[in-house]
Amino acid sequence: MLENISAAPPDPILGLTEAFQQDSRSGKINLTTGVYKDEQGNTPILECVKRAEEKLLKDEKSKGYLGIDGLAEFLNSVRELALPGLAAEDQVAVFQSPGGTGALRVAADFVAKNFAGSRVWLSTPTWPNHPAIFQAAGLETKQYPYLSADRKSLDAAACLETLEKEGRAGDVICLHACCHNPSGVDPNSEQWQQIAELTARIGMLPLIDFAYHGFGDGLQQDRAGIERMAKHHQEYLICSSYSKNFGLYSERIGALMAVCPDAVSTVKVRSNIKTCVRSNYSNPPRHGGAIVACVLGDTELRSLWTSELAAMRDRIHQMRSAFVEAMRHRSPDVDFSFLMDQRGMFSFSGLTPMQVDWLKSEKGIYIVGSGRINVAGITPSNLDYLCDSIAEALSS
Ligand SMILES: Cc1ncc(COP(=O)(O)O)c(C=O)c1O
Repeated sequence: MLENISAAPPDPILGLTEAFQQDSRSGKINLTTGVYKDEQGNTPILECVKRAEEKLLKDEKSKGYLGIDGLAEFLNSVRELALPGLAAEDQVAVFQSPGGTGALRVAADFVAKNFAGSRVWLSTPTWPNHPAIFQAAGLETKQYPYLSADRKSLDAAACLETLEKEGRAGDVICLHACCHNPSGVDPNSEQWQQIAELTARIGMLPLIDFAYHGFGDGLQQDRAGIERMAKHHQEYLICSSYSKNFGLYSERIGALMAVCPDAVSTVKVRSNIKTCVRSNYSNPPRHGGAIVACVLGDTELRSLWTSELAAMRDRIHQMRSAFVEAMRHRSPDVDFSFLMDQRGMFSFSGLTPMQVDWLKSEKGIYIVGSGRINVAGITPSNLDYLCDSIAEALSS
């Protein structure tokens, strides 16, 4: 049987990283994967995480299985982090998951099992794994327009028009809470309000992907979209990731939160999500959740975390403005100032697939074919080479 299987296509982004690793040029730059890099180009372990791990190593008593939903301290602290004052404790079913991806897959299974005919609306563009995850759960995916033709801002009118015309009660609307991947373009408060009102009127179930909490403007500011949605929706799903904001990529830690209209439905929803987890990975891995719970539950570690998170966020902002400024001098005819309105690690640079190819083959600069760049991959020491090369690509 196995010999008759044909090879699946490689993951487009991870494939580029492999090519990058094999590239022997010393000045090569990787702006592809969604991983934070510091000024030296490293992905460091946060100090708060190191200290939490020291504590855990000392205090840990058992490697026994966790419950299906995870560590109680973790579940409480991430609920408070994502939804402070937005929903009572007994209105939220929270699950510790293997990364944000695990949370999305469990949410997808939950929807597929319980809401026959429900379709999942995804922004065009979106994180490429979104359609794959929902389709793997057997759900139909639909697309709503998101960006203006020049891909620099949100086309809210087109988005609302499509949802108004084609959205149905019982459909799921997938939204990025902040730092939209791949564009960095987020709705402003008026646009969130319009999306919230319309989707509530239609009767859609919001599924909010919260993968970059704290990478946009701050922990509180990045919740603004969720707060808007909560004003109009009594029920919604949140899929959080702690890969980026705690730098816990390889620990695989995230959370699924199902906000329910009342305590009775929470109990029923929780029991149904448990069945999805059980047949998926049975129960979550402990370590990442224990770290997050330890940091959030300790005043000193929590304040260290918020300052380390702010430092990552500030560095990304600084690199955005340094890039825009450097390009203004090198290519005055091409305006990159729109990058300053975008948030998070990613932005569409506006580079064409041909320019992206040229930068890879001639300069060893790796960018996703869509022109998406990971701004966190820019450092003070690679900025000049990067901008000289992009200017050359633009002029040739
Ligand atoms: C929009 C979005 N959602 C979810 C995820 C998944 O995060 P995790 O690595 O925690 O599975 C990512 C990761 O890149 C992402 O960009």
